Amino acid sequence: MDPKNAKKRITELSDQLNHHSYRYYVLDEPEISDSKYDRLYRELQHLEEQFPQLVTPDSPTQRVGAPPLAAFVSLTHAVPMLSLDNAFGNDELREFDNRIKRLLNRTKDIEYVVEPKIDGVAVELVYENGLFALGSTRGDGFVGENVTLNLKTIKSIPIRLLTNETTVPERLDVRGEVYYPNSGFVKMNKEREAKGEPIYANPRNTAAGTLRQLDSKITAARPLNIFIHSFGQAVGHEFSSHSEALETFKAWGFRVNSHITVCRNIEEVIKGCEKIVALRDSLDYDIDGAVIKVNSMALQTQAGMRTRSPRWATALKFEAKQETTQILDIVPQVGRTGALTPVAHLKPVKIAGVEVRRATLHNQDEIDRKDVRIGDWVVVQRAGDVIPEVVKVIISKRTSAAKKFKIPKKCPICGSHVLRMKGEAVHRCQNFSCPAQLKERIQHFASKGAMDIEGLGEKLVEQLVEKKLVKNVADFYSLTKEQLAGLERMAEKSAQNIIEALEASKNTDLSRLLYAFGIRFVGEHVSRVLAKEFETFENLKKASKECLQDVYEIGPQVAESVYQFFKEVHNLETIDRLLKSGVRIKKVESATDNKFANQTFVFTGALQLFTRDEAERLVERWGGRAASAVSRNTTFVVVGQNAGSKAEKARDLNVTVLTEAEFKKMLE
Ligand code: IVH
Repeated sequence: MDPKNAKKRITELSDQLNHHSYRYYVLDEPEISDSKYDRLYRELQHLEEQFPQLVTPDSPTQRVGAPPLAAFVSLTHAVPMLSLDNAFGNDELREFDNRIKRLLNRTKDIEYVVEPKIDGVAVELVYENGLFALGSTRGDGFVGENVTLNLKTIKSIPIRLLTNETTVPERLDVRGEVYYPNSGFVKMNKEREAKGEPIYANPRNTAAGTLRQLDSKITAARPLNIFIHSFGQAVGHEFSSHSEALETFKAWGFRVNSHITVCRNIEEVIKGCEKIVALRDSLDYDIDGAVIKVNSMALQTQAGMRTRSPRWATALKFEAKQETTQILDIVPQVGRTGALTPVAHLKPVKIAGVEVRRATLHNQDEIDRKDVRIGDWVVVQRAGDVIPEVVKVIISKRTSAAKKFKIPKKCPICGSHVLRMKGEAVHRCQNFSCPAQLKERIQHFASKGAMDIEGLGEKLVEQLVEKKLVKNVADFYSLTKEQLAGLERMAEKSAQNIIEALEASKNTDLSRLLYAFGIRFVGEHVSRVLAKEFETFENLKKASKECLQDVYEIGPQVAESVYQFFKEVHNLETIDRLLKSGVRIKKVESATDNKFANQTFVFTGALQLFTRDEAERLVERWGGRAASAVSRNTTFVVVGQNAGSKAEKARDLNVTVLTEAEFKKMLE
C-alpha cells in the first residue's frame, strides 16, 4: 500500500475501532463480534508497523505499549479537587436542604441530583481540543500524580471525544472514580489463592495500587473501569445544570453511572437514596453512599464553597458493611484444588441487612498476622459479593479462654498429609484422590492432553461422583456399560462409546499419565521433561529432590511438588490400581535420527500449522528440547502470528528466527 492510501485506511480503522470500543466498553452494546474487532485491530497494527510515521496519538494501539516509568511526576489541578461534607440519616438530609434554602434565600423546592457514591479512586482527566492529554490522581486535592499512561489503558476512557452531538471545549477537566470491578477482584483473588500468592484486601486499595503501577502493561492486564461524575472546568462551554453536564459527558463518549436521578425536592432525594441502598449488593462495584448535588449551576455558584468542600453538595453515608461478633470456632475447609482455607464460624450477626455466620480467614499467615483466636471478638466485613472476612480482632475484649488455631497436618476430609510449599501461603491436601477435589481432578484426568477419554463431560462426571461409582480415578477402568447406561441422559450407544474410549485411553505414555495427575507446577511440558528423563514410575518414585532438581528445566518448586506427590501413599496406591486395571505405559519412541540433539526451540505467537503442544512434541521426538523462555542457549525461535517480545529478544541475542514453514521444512 502506498503512504497516501495507508493514511486513509489508518484513519478509517482508528475511527471504526474507537467507535466499537465505545459501543463495547461504555454502552455495553457491541455492534460487532470480538473476532471482527481483533481483525480490524490487527490490520491497524500491521499498517502502523509498516508506516510508523502515521501512528497518531489517538490510535487505539496507543493505549498500551509505553515503556515503564522511573517515577510519577506531580501535576497541579487547574481547579482544586474538593471533598464532600457528610450527612448521616434522613434528618440530616432535610437539614442540608434547609441550609441550602437559607443560603439561597428561597422557600421554593430545590432541584437535586442523586448519584451513587462510588468507593474508588478519584482521578481527573484533561482533554485539550478533544484529545486526552493528561490524567492524574486526586492527591491532596491540589497536586496529584500524573498517571496518564495507566489511565489510557482503561478502555472506557475516550482517547478522543466524540463530536457527533456538540462541539468539544478547548479544554475540559472531567473527574471521576476509577474502580476495580468486584467480579474481577474475586476472580483475581481466587487465582492468587490457588497459586499460593497473598490475596488483596479490597477492591478499592487494589484499584489504587493498579493505578500507581510504573509499568502500564500491568495496569492494562487488569480490568479497571471508571465513572465520570463531575468536572473542574470546561473552557469554551457552558452547562446550565449538573444533569445537563452529565448528559453532555455521555454524548462525548464518557461512561456515566446509570443510576443517577434528578429529584424535584428533598423528599424525592430521600426516596432516591433508598433506591440506591437497595441496589448496593447487586452492583459490580462498591458504593459507600449517595451524593446529593444542587442541579442548577447558577444556584451552585450562588451557594459557593467552604475551604475543602462545596456548600451545594453532600454525601449520605451508608451503614457500614462491618460489624463486630464473636468467633465460635475455626474450621479448615478443603477446596476443589486441595487448598485448606480456615473459616471462622461466627455468632450470627446482621451486616447491612444480611445475616452472616461464616467468614474467611484466608490462610494461616493471615491468622497469624491478625492474631485471630477462637473465642475472640472480631470486626467482620462484607464488600459486594465478596465472601465475608474477618478484618481485625478487638484485643480489649479477649479473655484467657481464647484459643490459638493451627491448620491441621492431616486433611480433615481424607486424612492424607497436608503441606505448605516454600514461598506459598496456602496449605494443601496432597492426596490426588481426596473426595473434596475429586470432580475437578477427574475432569482434568480425562482431558485431551491427559488421558484423552472422549465423552466424559462435566454432567457425567458429576453423576459418577455423586452416585459414588468413581471415588478414585482408577475406578473408571472397572465401570461397566450397564452402570453407565443407568445414568441420566445416557443412552446405551453413548455408554458403549465411553467404554470404548476408556479402553483406548489405557494405551498411554508416561508423560500423559503424569500430566493427568495434575501435580502442582507440572503442566504438559514439564511432564514430558520428567518422562523423558525418568522413563518409569519406579524411577520417579525413587528420585530424591536433589535428583529431580538436577534435571534441566526442573526448578526447586517443581522438584518439591513432584517429590511430595510420590511421597503420599494414597497416590502410590492409585498408580498401582491404574496399572493393574490395564493402563499400559508405552516407552517413548526413541527417534531413529536425533537431528535436533542439543538444540533448544522456543515457540512464540499464534501458530497456524501446529498446536504449541504438537510442535514441542515434534522437537522432542527428534531429540531436541522445547523451552518457554528465550536465552543465549536457545538455538531457534519459531514465530507464529503476532509474536511479541520473545521474537524481539531473539533478534537482540542473535538467535535464529524461523517461520513455521521453515520449521516444518526442517522436519521433512
Ligand atoms: S462529586 C466536590 N460525585 O467522593 C464534588 N464525587 O468524598 C466532589 N465520589 O473526592 C465530586 N462518587 O472522588 C462526586 N458521584 C460522585 C462521587 C464522588 C464518589 C468521590 C469523589 C470525591 C469523594 C468525596
